[in-house]
Amino acid sequence: MASLPEDPFKLRLMRPQDLAGVAAIQASSYHPHYLEDDATLAARLRECADTSWVAEGPGGLLGAYLVAYRSVLGKVTPLGAHFDPPPQPNCLYLHDLAVAAHAAGQGLGPALVRQALALARREGLACSALVSVQESQAFWRRLGYGAQALDDAQQQAHLASYPGVGVYMVQALGD
Ligand SMILES: CC(C)(COP(=O)(O)OP(=O)(O)OC[C@H]1O[C@@H](n2cnc3c(N)ncnc32)[C@H](O)[C@@H]1OP(=O)(O)O)[C@@H](O)C(=O)NCCC(=O)NCCS
Repeated sequence: MASLPEDPFKLRLMRPQDLAGVAAIQASSYHPHYLEDDATLAARLRECADTSWVAEGPGGLLGAYLVAYRSVLGKVTPLGAHFDPPPQPNCLYLHDLAVAAHAAGQGLGPALVRQALALARREGLACSALVSVQESQAFWRRLGYGAQALDDAQQQAHLASYPGVGVYMVQALGD
């Protein structure tokens, strides 16, 4: 019987030695306004070690990563600010998903999101949320997210710290 082809990539947790590659992917994917410096990227990894993933192939990093963290529904971290993990999270917040141009179109972005949502469901988190930037709303809608208004003025101000159009998006994680 013919053997099945191997997966073209695997997803694994991000490690400190990945950070130079992650910075390069970020620089190639985001407008300069959104770029985080090396110290911030390292701090994100320390804060989100069990909720940050990269895609890897036989030759190393494939040009895609996702940094997420546990949060509460309706809370937005201002651009560049430290995460502030709540004692009772109910939401997995996707902070930063990036796929470099050379790795686009292979499903790496959606695969990383599915990995994060599987963890959120295992932990019983009620929802996942994010701020959509760079006209990515349609991408997120296809993955089950919908725009949601923020009622709280402080959170609206945090959202406004994102240049351009930033849209708070949420999906409920039922069974
Ligand atoms: C958005 C992004 C993560 C998509 O990653 P990706 O792995 O290349 O996604 P794919 O190519 O597998 O796309 C999956 C589907 O979404 C579509 N898609 C990709 N980017 C899209 C976008 N910005 N808007 C609408 N649809 C999009 C693709 O056409 C594809 O459709 P298909 O399944 O019919 O072929 C990637 O383009 C990226 O890193 N962009 C720059 C960083 C960014 O803006 N991140 C989001 C910040 S909130």
